[in-house]
This record gives sequence, C-alpha cells and structure tokens, in this order.
Amino acid sequence: MALITCKNLALSYEGRRVLEGVDFSLSAGDYLCIVGENGSGKSTLMKALLSLKSPDHGMISFGDGLRRTEIGYLPQQASISRDFPASVREIVLSGCQNSLGHRLFYPAAARHRAAEAMEKLGISHLARRPWQELSGGQQQRVLLCRALCATRRVLLLDEPVAGLDPVVTAELYGIIRGYNRAGMTVIMISHDMQAALSDATHVLHLDGRQVFFGPAEDYRASDAAGHLLGGACHA
Ligand SMILES: Nc1ncnc2c1ncn2[C@@H]1O[C@H](COP(=O)(O)OP(=O)(O)O)[C@@H](O)[C@H]1O
Ligand SMILES: [Mg+2]
Repeated sequence: MALITCKNLALSYEGRRVLEGVDFSLSAGDYLCIVGENGSGKSTLMKALLSLKSPDHGMISFGDGLRRTEIGYLPQQASISRDFPASVREIVLSGCQNSLGHRLFYPAAARHRAAEAMEKLGISHLARRPWQELSGGQQQRVLLCRALCATRRVLLLDEPVAGLDPVVTAELYGIIRGYNRAGMTVIMISHDMQAALSDATHVLHLDGRQVFFGPAEDYRASDAAGHLLGGACHA
C-alpha cells in the first residue's frame, strides 16, 4: 500500500500557477530526492505535503494510517532567523509540539525523546548553547534533530546541506541514510545531484510541472538528468 500519493496536483500563489501535473506515489521506507532549478516548485510541493498549502486541483493522500502530524520537517535555511534567541534544547523540543496539546510544558516523554535524539545526533553537549552561536553544520544538525522529534515515519528535508562544507555534508547524508535504512521514509530536496542520487531510491524532477518521477537508476539514464547534471545546477 502506498504511504504517500500525489494525483495530478496543481499549486498556485494568488492565482499564479507554480506547479502542475504532479503524480507520484511512495511506499514506506522509500527515499525520494526532489530536484529542479530554483523556482521550480520544490519547496511549494513540500508545503502542500505538510498541508500548509492547499491544491488548486488534484489531491494528496496518505495510506498506512499516516497522519499529517507524524511528518518531521526541516525547512529551507532562510526560514529560521540566524538570530533566533533560543537554546539548542528549546529548538529540538519544539519538534515535539504535537505532544504539547493544551499543556504549558512538554510532557516527560517528549523531553526524553528530545534527549534521545540529541544523543543519537551527537549534540547533547550543545543542549544549553544559544542557537545563534553554533556553526552552520551544527545548526543543521539541530534542525534535523528537531524534525526527528516529530516523527518515526516520514522526514521532509528542504535543502538540508545547502551552504555546508563537504565533510559536514557527508556526515549529514550519513545520518539521514542511517535513519532511512532503519525504515524512515525520506523526502529530500537537494541540488547536490551526485550525492543525493547515491542514496535515493526515487527521483522527482520538477520544472513548474513534473518532468520525471521514477526509480533513481532510471533517472540517471534519462534526458532530464542529463540536462540537470550537464547544465547549470546551482543552489
Ligand atoms: N509565498 C509565496 N508567494 C508568492 N509566490 C511564491 C511564494 N513562495 C514561492 N513563490 C514562487 O513560487 C515559485 C516556486 O517557488 P519554490 O517552491 O520556493 O521553488 P523552489 O523551492 O523549487 O526553489 C517561484 O516562482 C517563487 O517565486
Ligand atoms: Mg526551495
């Protein structure tokens, strides 16, 4: 049974169509890499998957009892202020918001989950540090940790390695790969085609519409990949 299905999806901003003809489905444990030039609609599609944006037409459906609140999300960098006045622990805990309900404080289970995720990602020692003092790589690790607090099932990552050096990039890809191999479904937007394709099981290529969807090995041999790999592929 498909975990996530998009059928003939079309998305607009104030009447201006930015994406159409999106048709794909994913099973639990898949690793989808979404590629395409700047402005091709990648982040907008992610917002639709999170129900932050409603379709003009077409639909998104979840199977296997997946609920929207079980999706972890790492937003594109610019959407979190570099000066955000919070500690690492507070940012990670904010990934547990679904467990907050009408409570004022996070329940013990949420705090335990946050501590466990920080341990796994090797950032426990940073828990009390102010967010704005961390390096770019540490900040992305914290955001990944936050997303992992929200889910055991589906991770949405919008350009998680943008602006990071090759060593930190490889580390983050390694962490994401580990979670995927343990069963987490991953949907990642990336401009880093080579690295992304080595881990992804599927590729979705967008250009205001769906150019390609299918297994990663089919994508490598496709004309669409040749265009993106050979042409200007920038962040
Ligand atoms: N909040 C918004 N309001 C109006 N237009 C937007 C908004 N966000 C994005 N767009 C436009 O929608 C198109 C797709 O944007 P986006 O999904 O962010 O592309 P990508 O993530 O592939 O770079 C672009 O033309 C962009 O300018
Ligand atoms: Mg984007």
